[in-house]
Amino acid sequence: MGHVVVIGSGIAGLISALRAARVHDVTLVTKAELTAGSTAWAQGGIAAAVFADDSPELHTRDTLAAGAGLSDPEAVRLMAREGAARLHDLVALGVEFDTAASDESDTRGPLGWARGLEAAHSVARVLHAGGDATGRIIEHALATALDEARSSGRMLVREHTTAVAIVRGSDERVCAVDVAPSIPRDGAVVTERLDADAVVIATGGNGQLYRHTTNPPVATGDGVILGYAAGAAVVDLEFVQFHPTVLAGGGLVSEAVRGEGAVLLNAAGRRFLTGAGHDPRGELAPRDVVARAIAAQMREQGGAPVLLDATSLGERTLRERFPTIDRLVRSAGYDWTREPVPVTPAAHYAMGGLLTDMSGRTTVPGLFAVGETGSTGVHGANRLASNSLLEALVVGWRAGDLLAADVAPSPLPTPSLSTTQDKRDDEAGAVEVPTVLSEAPGASDALADGATPVAGEYVRDRAWDALGLLRDGVTMGDLARELADAQPADALAARLVPLARLTAEAALARRESRGAHARTDYPATDPRQRWRRAWARRVVASPELLTHDLHSDHREPALAAAVPTREVKI
Ligand code: FAD
Ligand code: SIN
Repeated sequence: MGHVVVIGSGIAGLISALRAARVHDVTLVTKAELTAGSTAWAQGGIAAAVFADDSPELHTRDTLAAGAGLSDPEAVRLMAREGAARLHDLVALGVEFDTAASDESDTRGPLGWARGLEAAHSVARVLHAGGDATGRIIEHALATALDEARSSGRMLVREHTTAVAIVRGSDERVCAVDVAPSIPRDGAVVTERLDADAVVIATGGNGQLYRHTTNPPVATGDGVILGYAAGAAVVDLEFVQFHPTVLAGGGLVSEAVRGEGAVLLNAAGRRFLTGAGHDPRGELAPRDVVARAIAAQMREQGGAPVLLDATSLGERTLRERFPTIDRLVRSAGYDWTREPVPVTPAAHYAMGGLLTDMSGRTTVPGLFAVGETGSTGVHGANRLASNSLLEALVVGWRAGDLLAADVAPSPLPTPSLSTTQDKRDDEAGAVEVPTVLSEAPGASDALADGATPVAGEYVRDRAWDALGLLRDGVTMGDLARELADAQPADALAARLVPLARLTAEAALARRESRGAHARTDYPATDPRQRWRRAWARRVVASPELLTHDLHSDHREPALAAAVPTREVKI
């Protein structure tokens, strides 16, 4: 029996903690209350091949197509194959997915499950719970299971506790995590060292790098920077997904609303995603396509949001199928049963993160990453809707099981510097995608302090301008040079400055457009760049990284400020 420290309490952290605690003592630390992450905010649902007209092969094909040639086919196949079993495991843990009426026998799945359609899925395969409260219901069931595990004495849960450093021993293995209370006491930062045989990073995404995001305040990319600081390879950081439909003023309006038939209108009230020159799937084209089309339309109409028209769905469907969004929209002062509502794109999901395999192993011995913090290669250059809860569940489960079997498995090999051209011409994504370690000197240490103090909120504005939906080398180069001289001035900046540096380096290095990474100066996809680019720190030091001004006057960004009410600069 060993001691495993899990950092983060979304679906990925909770599942891996529950699985590992069958054998080991587990300490789970989480920087706010247990349910503060993205998981509890998930609306649309969780995708899996469980219906009669679907199969893991079809799910794999859709996922690879969305990934724009960069998804790892083996990883995708594994997720698609194991998905159904994991959904039944969720049911055993207390999740009740919505069911369809018994007269809708052609649409019902196992246990009578109902299903929703989201963009770029060739069949409806998204299970939901509580209408559009899927994440909240999953998080609640897992938190209840965690409570039961706590009573066994094997599980210790510490809320409002921030992981600030991963510590490695002289044998290179991870041996501890430094944590600090998230709520200031007397001003001074007091860290505590938790010894560990293995550490699982499950800190979620990094949407707060951007001024406008769907993500909760805790999504500041901590895990990527903690892992990077400890020497783990990061990968695919240039790929950030922007969700097309965020209510102007803040709050997601799920893609499932478009899946049920809602359409997008320009300021003149006309559909703009149909007809010649547009993806034939219209409003249900892949997210990157729809988000860019919205941005182009907004530019044409002086920055004003476009409109989502859900009036055809009818009051009952809107209220019963989408109760959370119904409340959100009404509280913002709109009656979406009668009028279209203003929406804009915002940063939503990080395809990149700490490089892992499908069991969450990173390149550092004893260090795991699961959920949105990890990057298994499933999502490639663009994630298929509702695949992230599934991937987090599958990988979190496998990581917990691997640890239960062997608390000290070998790490993932660090990718080589080789730049072989092998197998890079299959854009259909059927063959393996090479992962190559980058040699670029600019990112040799993204944690190095410069001379100019920079605040976290400033970085969010700059990232929105330079690393957003549409990018170009000049703007990103300016940002990279500015950040090279930056010194984090507050706790948020201690996370976001290195994250922005790495993202800018990765986005500059990819001189093509692919999936969510769209460059105006390289608008075409280049088959010769069909590889994943990894970065690793050469010097591993400064374990005190995130204690930097932990309790300085950083205020978590407020949800209300997530998206502007009138105009948005894309
Ligand atoms: P999270 O659930 O974000 O949990 C991260 C945890 O880490 C939190 O507990 C946080 O407090 C903690 N943490 C962070 N930093 C630290 C630190 N330094 N120390 C300690 N703890 C820390 N995906 C789908 O598949 N279907 C959907 O319908 C869907 N809808 C979405 C809707 C919204 C509004 C958003 C934002 C995302 C949605 N996604 C959806 C994406 C999906 O919800 C996330 O990718 C997924 O929940 C991530 O799970 P996770 O366990 O990796 O991280
Ligand atoms: C949504 O409901 O539109 C979000 C789904 C996702 O991010 O997968």
